[in-house]
Formats: sequence, C-alpha cells, structure tokens
Amino acid sequence: MQNDLSRRKFLEAVGTTVATGATVAAGAAVFGTSAVAAVAAAGQTPAKSIKILAISTSPRKGKTTSAGLKVCLEAARAVDSEHVETELIELAGMSIPGALSAGLPLGPGEKDDFPQLLPKLTDPKLAGIIIGSPVYFGNMSYLCAAFLDRLTVLRKTFAWSNKVGGVLAVAGARNGGQEQTLRSIQAAMFGQEMVLVGDGRPTAHCGATLWNNGKDDISHDEPGVATAKNLGRRVAEVARRMA
Ligand SMILES: Cc1cc2nc3c(=O)[nH]c(=O)nc-3n(C[C@H](O)[C@H](O)[C@H](O)COP(=O)(O)O)c2cc1C
Repeated sequence: MQNDLSRRKFLEAVGTTVATGATVAAGAAVFGTSAVAAVAAAGQTPAKSIKILAISTSPRKGKTTSAGLKVCLEAARAVDSEHVETELIELAGMSIPGALSAGLPLGPGEKDDFPQLLPKLTDPKLAGIIIGSPVYFGNMSYLCAAFLDRLTVLRKTFAWSNKVGGVLAVAGARNGGQEQTLRSIQAAMFGQEMVLVGDGRPTAHCGATLWNNGKDDISHDEPGVATAKNLGRRVAEVARRMA
C-alpha cells in the first residue's frame, strides 16, 4: 500500500504521460539523466521526431486514393509540424508480384519492385503507417492484396510491431464497400502486430471512408474528407505517444 502510494506520488510528480517509467529510462539513455529529470519535473516527455508513411495501393497514380491520403498526411503534420515528418508512397506503376510471398518464382520477364521499398518500410523513424486502397468489388485492390502479402517478410522480425496503423478506402459509391475494405486491410495489419486506430473524434469509426463522385474528385465529399483528416490526426497523435 505504502509502495503504491509512493509510486503514485512519484508518477504525479513526473506527469501523467508517464507510462513513462519506460519513457524516462529510455530518455535518460538519450538525453542524460539531468535533462530527463528536468523534463520529467516539468511534466513532459521529450519530443522525438517521427515519420508517418501513407501508402496508396491504387494502380492509378495521383487519383482519389492518393488525394485522400494527402488529406491524412496534412492533418498528421498539423499535430506537430516540428516533429512529425510525412511521406506518400504510390504503388501505381510498380510491379509487386504477390506470388513470391507464397514461395513461387517470378514469371518470365516479370520484375519485382518490392525490395526497393524496404528501406522506407523499415526506417527506424517510422512510427505510423496509413494504407489506402480503392474499393474493387467490395474489397481492396489487387495491388493492395499483393503488397500486404509481400509484407509477410516483415514478420521475420516483426518490424512493424507497435507501429500505429490506419486505413483509408475510396469507392465510387457512397456505400460501395469502404468499411469492408478497411476491415480486410486491418486484418493484415493485425498480423504485423501493429496498433490499429480508426478515424478520431468526432467521427470516430474504423478509418477514412471516401466517396469518389465519378469525376475522380473527393473534395465534394465533406463527411468523407473529415474522416481522412481525423484518421491522419489520430495516427499522428498515437504514434507520438508510442514513440
Ligand atoms: C475493378 C474495379 C472495381 C470497382 N469496384 C467498386 C465497388 O465495388 N464499389 C464501388 O463503390 N466502387 C468500385 N469501383 C470504383 C473505385 O473504387 C473508385 O473509382 C475509386 O475512387 C478508385 O480509386 P483511385 O481514384 O485511387 O483509382 C471499382 C473500380 C474498379 C476499377
């Protein structure tokens, strides 16, 4: 009891973000004990630069999936422009054969662009990943499925363990399968031991759900754009805490 009380007092003294026995200990190694004691006394955790990656799995470069992800990334940067770096990767135009993950060889003349993505996918600063897909027949695109299958390689070291994951889907209809698509992609992200978040408040559902009005434009879809903003913000907020 006495110990519990003393511990609580200590935690109050160093601030509530102190799931921080770990944070303070890690910080001590990086910044030196006195600097950490100073920030702890001020009730803060030392800010760390993190990277949020958005990956568009639409085969159409620069179209609605990538537009939605740009909205997410802008909202992520707005959380802390000094410490949150963002990048959009578009898989459009890349050859990502999914069959390799099942142990099959490349087909004749087939190339594999997946290995060139690995340095970015395993960047130590990477703290959050947002995967975006167009809805194809009520589910993710073929490029998304192939990419997720190839990520099996990350499970060797669980390189995405505890990275924050969010998902975005764009469909031609307002209710064209966005939520099903989000859930399918999330299942693969759970397989990477990621920490999944949805779009944050006030929308607060399972991710960003956007509607392409047939003119390759999402800007008319105000509620959908709001989910993209809330997803980007939520991924950045949680990623900062995790880091
Ligand atoms: C093969 C294919 C299947 C599609 N299936 C659906 C669908 O099931 N529901 C839907 O609402 N839209 C469907 N669409 C429309 C796309 O989801 C929509 O145009 C999306 O905005 C495309 O994303 P992009 O602009 O990033 O390429 C389909 C499009 C294609 C090419």
